[in-house]
Formats: sequence, structure tokens, C-alpha cells
Amino acid sequence: MYNPDVKIKSSPLILGIESSCDETAAAVICGRKLLSSEIISSAAEQSKYGGVVPEIASRAHADAVDEVVFRALKSAGVRLKELDAVAATYGAGLIGALLVGLSFAKGLAYSLNIPLIAVNHIRGHLAAAYLEDEDIEPPFVTLLASGGHTAVLHTKSLYEYEVLGGTSDDAAGEAFDKVARVLGLSYPGGANVERLAAEGRNCIALPSAYVKNSTSMRFSYSGLKTAVINVLHNAEQRGENISRADIACSFQHAAIDMLVNKTVESAKRLGVGVVTAGGGVVANGYLRSSLKSACDMAGLKCVLPEKKYCTDNAAMIAAEGLTQYFAGNFAPLDITARAQIPLGS
Ligand code: KG4
Ligand code: ZN
Repeated sequence: MYNPDVKIKSSPLILGIESSCDETAAAVICGRKLLSSEIISSAAEQSKYGGVVPEIASRAHADAVDEVVFRALKSAGVRLKELDAVAATYGAGLIGALLVGLSFAKGLAYSLNIPLIAVNHIRGHLAAAYLEDEDIEPPFVTLLASGGHTAVLHTKSLYEYEVLGGTSDDAAGEAFDKVARVLGLSYPGGANVERLAAEGRNCIALPSAYVKNSTSMRFSYSGLKTAVINVLHNAEQRGENISRADIACSFQHAAIDMLVNKTVESAKRLGVGVVTAGGGVVANGYLRSSLKSACDMAGLKCVLPEKKYCTDNAAMIAAEGLTQYFAGNFAPLDITARAQIPLGS
């Protein structure tokens, strides 16, 4: 929705609010410069239940949203009335959780008479890289690896991307979480698999999701996850003592090598010189170092958000809010939250 009455500034002050899952977050940016980013997480509470309980998440957001916004404004040294726009995640995510942040943002936009920007959470993950390097401009090849999505994208402009390929079944983060459960690790699973993998010494042969020399851009994680279950099960039946750290390490390699290869191959094939990435799995140290060195070897620039801006945060929501602000893409105050938003829409 374009609002012709809003005077578009070159470096607007934008408050971002994120509440799609278990992190209540707020951040302030001035243009692409990040001024503050605050998070109040209910992950510790959720870990008692082995995953995110939607009702607990919603209540935790309701308790935290006021405080987290206050903290973000305070540490940015910005007063409410100085804001030019407020951007909030409207989907995808847990409906009750989304509604807390979105409703809070609507209240602020209405009372301050500033535009509301409704942000697609996944586009937020992709925009996190823009805060890392204020000067980068598309085209990019972008690796998206989160809890719900895994894909390689051709980012043609800040507003348009083409999905080059993606997973046929589980997302990478989902696979990390499922393997964590199989290995007896607590929620949140991905980071715990990485920690255990660091102790792995021997690589166990797993039928990798990566098919060597394949030109296919489809990935599959369900076979890899089943292979991990089978390795554990067979060892148990034979009474063998198998190292869980070795399994974690082997899984991590199998899950990530393919993503790195496909991303770099795509950039070379398209003649695109910049690779970006976003999503929780991009916080993985092995993924970060592999992608950086593969890009170096191919002569590509690699721009990764800092680890803390890979997992859910509001800085990325403010960053995507800025892109939508420049397009005058403002939301009506009756916009509602959406549990699902297909990739590419
Ligand atoms: O992007 P994100 O915060 O949530 C979605 O929007 O989906 O990603 C969360 C996912 C979880 O599946 C989590 O296990 C995974 O990212 N993750 C990791 C790491 N940190 C978070 N996976 C592997 N290694 C990590 N260090
Ligand atoms: Zn996310």
C-alpha cells in the first residue's frame, strides 16, 4: 500500500519488532546503520518442553514487548517521536506470537502517526546481510538456511529474487533439530549439534544429501536424518559403543557441504560476484568458514551477517523494513498476521 503523504527520507529512523517464535526483539536503525538490537528470549523456558510451546511463547512476548522496545530505543538514544516508521514481522510464524509484536507496532504507528511496515520474516533473514556491509547492492547469490526454509536464491534486486533450488523435504535447521533429538541433545538443537560436533574425531560415512557432480538444485535432508538414526540403531543392536560426537560431526559435514557447493556453483554459473546468506543455520561456525573459503577460492565476495543476526532478531526486520520504506510499501492498520507465507511471494 503506497502512502503518497509520507515524505521518504534518505536515512530514516526505523524501529523493528520481531515476535514470530520464541524471541521478543526490537532494534533501531538509521538508514543501514544499526543503532541498537535487543532480545528477550523465552528459549530457556521452552527448552523444558523440548521445543516451542505456542501459548508460552505468546505470553512471554506479551510480558516482554514493552520492555524490549524501551531498551532498544534507550540504547539507540532515540525518542519515540523521532521515529520515521515502525516495521514488524507479520508472518510467517506462530499466530499468537506474531500478533503480540504486530499489534504493538500498530499501536505505535497509529499513535505516532508514522507508517507501519509489515515484514516477511524470511525476507528479514535475507536482509540481515545488508547491515554487515552497508554498501553491498544486488545481484547476489543468497543461501537461505533457517528452521523452516533452505534454498539458494538469485537476488536480482532488493525486491526480487528467484529460487534456484531448495529442499525437497526438511529444511536444514529442521534436520539439525531432529538429529539433535536423536542424539539426546536439548532444544535449541542446531547449536548443540555444532558444540558436540567440535569433539568429533572420526568421520562416519553417511549417504550425504549432496550428490557429487549433480547439476540438480534440489536437496534432500530426510535420507540423511534416517541414515543417522540407522547408524545409531545398528550400533545399539551390535552392542557397539559409537561416538555421538563423531555422528554429529559427520552429519554437520554432510548437511552443510552440499549447501556451500550449490551456492558457490550457482554464483559462478550466473557470473554473480557476491554471495550473501541468512537464517539460523548460518550461525554455524563450520558453514561460515566453509562458505568463506569456498568463496575466496572462487574469487567471490562473501557477506555473512554476524552470528547474532542469523538467528531471530529485530535488526534484520528493521533492515528489510528500510527496503520496503524506500518503496513506500506501507501496511494498512487492519493487516493481520499470517502463519504461512510461501517462499517467493
Ligand atoms: O532462522 P531461524 O532462527 O528460524 C526460522 O526462521 O526458521 O533458524 C532456527 C534454526 C533452528 O532449526 C536451529 O537449530 C538452527 O537454526 N540453528 C543452527 C545453529 N544455530 C541455530 N543450526 C546449526 N548450527 C547452529 N549453530
Ligand atoms: Zn527465523
